[in-house]
Amino acid sequence: MELIEGKKVAAEMKKEIAEEANSIKASGGKTPHLAAVLVGHDGASETYVAHKVKACEEVGFKSTLVRFEEDVTEEELLAKVDELNNDKDLDGFIVQLPLPDHISEQKVIEAIRPSKDVDGFHPVNVGRMVIGLPAFVSATPAGIMILLERYKINTSGQNCVIVGRSNIVGRPLSILLSQKTPTANATVTVCHSRTKNLNEVCANADILIAALGSPEFLTADMVGEGAVVIDVGTTRVKSDKTKSGWKLKGDVKFDEVSPKCSYITPVPGGVGPMTIVSLLKNTLLASKKEIYR
Ligand code: GUN
Repeated sequence: MELIEGKKVAAEMKKEIAEEANSIKASGGKTPHLAAVLVGHDGASETYVAHKVKACEEVGFKSTLVRFEEDVTEEELLAKVDELNNDKDLDGFIVQLPLPDHISEQKVIEAIRPSKDVDGFHPVNVGRMVIGLPAFVSATPAGIMILLERYKINTSGQNCVIVGRSNIVGRPLSILLSQKTPTANATVTVCHSRTKNLNEVCANADILIAALGSPEFLTADMVGEGAVVIDVGTTRVKSDKTKSGWKLKGDVKFDEVSPKCSYITPVPGGVGPMTIVSLLKNTLLASKKEIYR
């Protein structure tokens, strides 16, 4: 079994991104600039956004954090999105999800100008990605594709099973893996809560991706010998062993599954760091106007 060390790959990629940002600045170009909008004080969202801001600092990007209290109105939030859309210094921005129930996430996502949508959540970016046009691709699926590539894991003709059909991970990843490109070409099955014979479907996978957000859902009996397992889960569970009082748990029961795998991503240190670095990459693409001219 070999560990897929996302943390290591992300560190290498950050170095590459920092070098490129430096050379842009050295030749008189503008510093790439990412903004993050955070509503409320959800612990996980606070941590994710803090990581994104810190990552910007590490690669020499400018970052702006825009905070709103939980009771911000949809109108106020949409007005801020409009302002960020028109901010000439800003290359891209994200609105951290989830949003409070009184705000329509879809409305907010659709208000973001596609050329600044470095999360790749806007229907224009999703649609462009689906038909293979240049697009901002959602960070977690993009990060998983990079991991498979960097570890030279063959996907062509392989039986890829994705458990979870979210708009952020499962669905876009299913499209990327099935694309007609040398680093994809997989046969993809998307499983969800209504899937029949889920254990059997999973056990037949060459590459198995758990992206349903249910801690330790995937057990050894659901994994075939020699499978590649990608764990996208990052659920906070209570722990009396950590200072914070919680720890991150993946969707895979790592201790019993890992001995059966050819490759597996750990949690933490697997997919998570790749999500952040993919966002940086999208911001760099935005600053270079490589997707939208
Ligand atoms: N919430 C969980 N993951 C993400 C993400 O990648 N982007 C945003 N904006 N919100 C999230």
